[in-house]
Parts: sequence; C-alpha cells; structure tokens
Amino acid sequence: MSPIDKNQPVLVTGATGYVAGWLVKKLLDEGYTVHAAVRSPDNAKKTAHLDAIAEKAPGSIRYFKADLLDEGSYAEAMQGCSVIFHTASPFTSNYDDPQRDLIDPAVKGTANVLQSAKEIPTVQRVVLTSSCAAMYSDAIDTVNAPGGAITEDVWNTTASLDYQPYSYSKTLAEKKGWEIAETQNQWDLVTINPSFVMGPPLNTKSNTSESFSILKQMGDGTFRFGAPRMGFGVVDVRDVAEAHYKAAFTPSANGRYITSGHNTDLFAMTQALRPKFGNDYPLPKSAAPKWLLMLVGPMMNKMLTRKSIRNNVDVPFRADNSKIKRELLMEFRPLQQTMEDGFQVLVDEKIV
Ligand SMILES: NC(=O)c1ccc[n+]([C@@H]2O[C@H](COP(=O)([O-])OP(=O)(O)OC[C@H]3O[C@@H](n4cnc5c(N)ncnc54)[C@H](OP(=O)(O)O)[C@@H]3O)[C@@H](O)[C@H]2O)c1
Repeated sequence: MSPIDKNQPVLVTGATGYVAGWLVKKLLDEGYTVHAAVRSPDNAKKTAHLDAIAEKAPGSIRYFKADLLDEGSYAEAMQGCSVIFHTASPFTSNYDDPQRDLIDPAVKGTANVLQSAKEIPTVQRVVLTSSCAAMYSDAIDTVNAPGGAITEDVWNTTASLDYQPYSYSKTLAEKKGWEIAETQNQWDLVTINPSFVMGPPLNTKSNTSESFSILKQMGDGTFRFGAPRMGFGVVDVRDVAEAHYKAAFTPSANGRYITSGHNTDLFAMTQALRPKFGNDYPLPKSAAPKWLLMLVGPMMNKMLTRKSIRNNVDVPFRADNSKIKRELLMEFRPLQQTMEDGFQVLVDEKIV
C-alpha cells in the first residue's frame, strides 16, 4: 500500500448508521472529503447530524444514493476514492424473514460493494465492518474456543438461518469479503470485528441500531426486575471509529481485528450506570436468575429462546483483544465512561 493522499476522497457506506456516524466525524475532523453512500440522501432526519459536524470540520461531505441490494449502485460514490469503509448492514432483532431482512443485504451488499471496488483503480484499501458475531454466536462458544477465548483465527460455526441469524449474516458477509479480496491484488482488505457497541449516539432521531434499543431498554424499565448475566463483549462507539481509521491508514494493518474493550455481561453494563443514574431511572438492582429466564424468557422476546438462555446466561464472554492493541496501538475507554456517556445522551434528549 502506497501512502494515502489526503486530498483523495474516502467512501463510507451506510454513513447514516450509529457506528458510521463517529467514523464520518473522525474523517471530517482529519480533513478528508467523505463520500457518504446512503439509502435516503434527502431524509434530513438521517443526515442532519452529519451536515452539522461537516459544517464545523475541515473536511467535507458529499452524499450518494445507493442500496446494498441494487447492484452497481455504489460505483459512482467510489470514484477517485483511496479507501472504502463498508459499514452498511442491518443490525436489528426486528426482522420477519431472516434471509430477506438480514442475510441478503449483508452478503449481497458486501459482494456488490467489493465487486465494484475492483473496477475503481484508485482504491487501495477496503475496511469492512464485520463483527465478533462472525466468530461466535453464544458466550459458550467463546469459552469453548481454543485457549478459552475467541481470537482472529476463530470463525462462527454455530449460527444458521434459524439460530442467531444476525451472527450468520455477519459470518457469511465477512467470508464473502475475503473471497472477493482474493480475486484481485489492487487493494487489501482489513476487517474490524467489534463486540457489542455502546456509547453516545450522534443521531437519536432515526436510530435503527440494536445498540440504541438495548441502551433505551436500560432506562425504560425493561430490566426493572433484573437483567440477565448474559456474557457480552462491549466496545465504545468512538473507539470503533478510531479502530476503522487506524485500520485504513496504518499501512501494515492486515487481516481481522477483534475490536472489543471489555469482557463483561448485560447485568454489569446496567450496574455501570447505577452510581450516576440509579436514583432516577429503573435500573435493575439484581441479576435475573437463569431458571426464571428459562420460564418466561421465550414469551418476552423471540431472541430469548431456551437454547440462547442456556448458552449465554451466567456464561462469560471472552475475547482476546491483544492483536489490535499491539498492531494498531488501540486503547479502549473504560466501560463506565462508555455507558454513562451513552445514557446521558438519552437523558439530555428526553428519550428515557
Ligand atoms: N452496533 C453494534 O453493536 C455492532 C457490533 C458489531 C458490528 N456492527 C456492525 O456495524 C455496522 C453498523 O451497525 P450499526 O450498529 O451502526 O447499525 P445501524 O445504525 O442500524 O446502521 C446500519 C446501516 O446500514 C444501512 N443499511 C441497512 N440496510 C441497507 C440497505 N439495504 N442498503 C443500504 N444501506 C443499508 C442503514 O441505512 P439506513 O440509515 O438507510 O437504514 C444504516 O446506515 C453493521 O455492519 C453492523 O453489523 C455493529
């Protein structure tokens, strides 16, 4: 990879997203011209926060209309770009048909973007937003991984269309990315594999991320009677943006990068909020017992099947984040700061 010319634009797909917002901000603050590929460039609810950031930053933003399922639709947005950040992919538990709503946009979308990148001679690097979900479905998989923690060598072998289909979508999409990368030698592929992303949203007006839903649930009383000790990895959204940036502009960056700050659990995440918000919000005081979840969980949420409760509740999540710390010199914010800063936005904007 030759040094990146700062005057060349960079592309961010799914620029309206929760994770992408902080990446766009970082790029604008560093002076880049950001080509923002979005489904609805005219929907101010989705783009106003980016325009406000661009107005105060040395960089600039240009919108392009594109859809993951519309083949060739990213080609125009890529013209002249040195780096492509492919973040667009649905992250929601609110789906009807997992093939149509999760797998197709993730996998066909990755193929669509990366195939087009092969035709654009200025592209030197593609940074793909994958996920730790491409390495595991349930916390028990992390414990059972060689060495007792997931590393960049591990692939998810337990997700399917019927079980943890979001994890399946991320696994298939990342595999598709590596497959396409091997068919050419013009650009190299680096993947960022975050665990569960938390921290302040830049846009609360139209936020579709599951991260936002879970944070809201912490304040709306969903966990009033207890939150499960469900093994989770957590990373701050601002750190995820930094990781994407470093992956793009560190010439030696290579392969996959687990991007996870903390091996923790859902109950501990809510407890990080207690010192600052415990008096005013219905945060749980105790962990929800596993036996009770086995009884009522499946009625509360279609994701809380008995199998997922068995494999995640009271089971630790373990990821080894040493590669990104060593190679990209990443440091991660403390969990408490991430949780507090995220929740404070919901308080300030009267969402909880
Ligand atoms: N949040 C996490 O905990 C987490 C953890 C690991 C990895 N990730 C990954 O991070 C990325 C962003 O997730 P997020 O949490 O920021 O969720 P998000 O806010 O819902 O962002 C998803 C983005 O994908 C776009 N998108 C969805 N379907 C599309 C389609 N058919 N065509 C074009 N764009 C489409 C959305 O565009 P619209 O605005 O038009 O809907 C949105 O910009 C995803 O790849 C996700 O898998 C997230």
